[in-house]
Amino acid sequence: MPELNTITKTVIVTSALPYANGQIHLGHIASTYLPADIYTRYIRLSGLTVYHVCASDDFGTPILIRSEKEKKTPSDYVSYWNRRDLKDFQSLAINFDLFSRTSSPENKSLVQSIFNKLQSNGYIYEKEVIQPFCPVDKKFLPDRFVVGTCPNCGAEGQYSDLCENCGKVPEEILDPKCWICGSVPIKRSSNHYFFQLSKFSDKLRDWLIKNSNLQEDIKKYVLNWINNGLVDWDITRDIEWGIPIPTSDANGKVFYGWFDNHICYISSLLILAEEHKKDGKQLWNESAIFHFIGKDIVYHHYLFLPAIRLGIDQEYKLPDYLPTRGHLLLKNKKLSKSRNWYISIEDFTQRFETDYLRFYLASITPYSQDDVNFDWDTFREKINNELIANVGNFINRTLTLIQNNFASSVPKISKLESYDNEAIDRIHTIGTEVGTKIESNHLNRALMDILAFSSFLNSYFQHKKPWSSSSVDTTLYISVNAVRTLAIVLAPFIPNSSEKIWYQLKLGDSVHKQEWSSSGVLRIAPGHVIGKIVPLFKKIDKETIEKLQIEMTGK
Ligand code: MF3
Ligand code: ZN
Repeated sequence: MPELNTITKTVIVTSALPYANGQIHLGHIASTYLPADIYTRYIRLSGLTVYHVCASDDFGTPILIRSEKEKKTPSDYVSYWNRRDLKDFQSLAINFDLFSRTSSPENKSLVQSIFNKLQSNGYIYEKEVIQPFCPVDKKFLPDRFVVGTCPNCGAEGQYSDLCENCGKVPEEILDPKCWICGSVPIKRSSNHYFFQLSKFSDKLRDWLIKNSNLQEDIKKYVLNWINNGLVDWDITRDIEWGIPIPTSDANGKVFYGWFDNHICYISSLLILAEEHKKDGKQLWNESAIFHFIGKDIVYHHYLFLPAIRLGIDQEYKLPDYLPTRGHLLLKNKKLSKSRNWYISIEDFTQRFETDYLRFYLASITPYSQDDVNFDWDTFREKINNELIANVGNFINRTLTLIQNNFASSVPKISKLESYDNEAIDRIHTIGTEVGTKIESNHLNRALMDILAFSSFLNSYFQHKKPWSSSSVDTTLYISVNAVRTLAIVLAPFIPNSSEKIWYQLKLGDSVHKQEWSSSGVLRIAPGHVIGKIVPLFKKIDKETIEKLQIEMTGK
């Protein structure tokens, strides 16, 4: 493996934390969790130590509002979604070494200590801000706690921080009402804490320019934001659900969710380090740090998060990589939970193999901010023509011939022709080729390379006609070794199917415990007896897709 191996021993991968207020959908999977999982699996196969951490994002007014609507305590409410999200991830073979929560005691104490350090370093100031206050409930009403009429489009019953009808953030909502009791809020002044983001312009600019691992086009517009002037962040909320601000006069105030959530990347790693009896801070600082995100949270990860780490003298180092990907569209419209325009994980896994979704999403999602379109017909075509007709077919033909004509025993190699040598060469090099692309996060291109390798193998097989020719033994020996190679290089992408292939090869243990570099070695020796052949994939028929489209009306 090229670069990473020489610079680091350990890799820390994080995936953006899902809000604990509803189902994860395919958009999140495509942009963030699947790429992070593929990357992690690859790094692990490459022999490096890697930790993939994630957590539920438990705080914020939308969550408090939802829990109140459902008459649950916020803490019960977020616990439910924490478990539920984890279950959805597991159903897609997306694994974490730890799935924590921003409301953990460990996160709370780290957040508070980071705030204290920022304060003593002079990056926090206090300012009075005018806030809506409900005289009946005797509460401040931040963000979503005020509803009214959108001044932009006239829609009634909109939250003061977002109009769901026109998508704009209203400057001042008309006819404001308290969301809880309906009375008219008054204005009251409240003491808030601000983080001086503006002080970090130069350091952030420097960091962005120097960090060559970041995507250039994103860097460009983030640098533009800096040049247009950064605004300080109000990190205070006047509600009870959140991490308390640890100053004596903060009575009842909590941190804004975007102050505490990304700190949970670190606190989760610290929890994990402790489980492994390691010094967490040291581990963080000597690892390569990857934060996988979707493009809607670029601002927070390219500016706010690094600024906070700079503000505490880089006690925890800044990210090395911020792999950022675009949105998933369905019929060319962005998936959205709140607009009920999405495909849930359950919708999917009830009908199809997990690996079908992984294969499809990985193959259509580039390493860029471009949006990608989910399309049921393309889904079916890709599974049938690429995964099944190409990969599945080669594997099946090879294993079936060995089973039927050689009593499942791998034949001996005899004379090598030039096509055989070419096949052996391709086996030698495919792992490095694919690995280089995965390392540079071009996961879709890596998958294309594997498909090209498999196409080559099909032509090789076809050309050699092992079912009739005298060089059948050599062809099958090389082919069965190529099947082993395929199982390893496909393992990060379609882990369940790769394990099935491995099982049929009867090589013992698990494909996920192999060494990536061994994909280039012809390890299966003549005389090895392969296992029972089971069908790997099942084609998706047209009717299934048509029925599905009708069932999910409109989608
Ligand atoms: N919950 C946020 C969202 O869905 C993402 C939080 S990522 C973290 O937009 F960096 F804050 F952790
Ligand atoms: Zn009220």
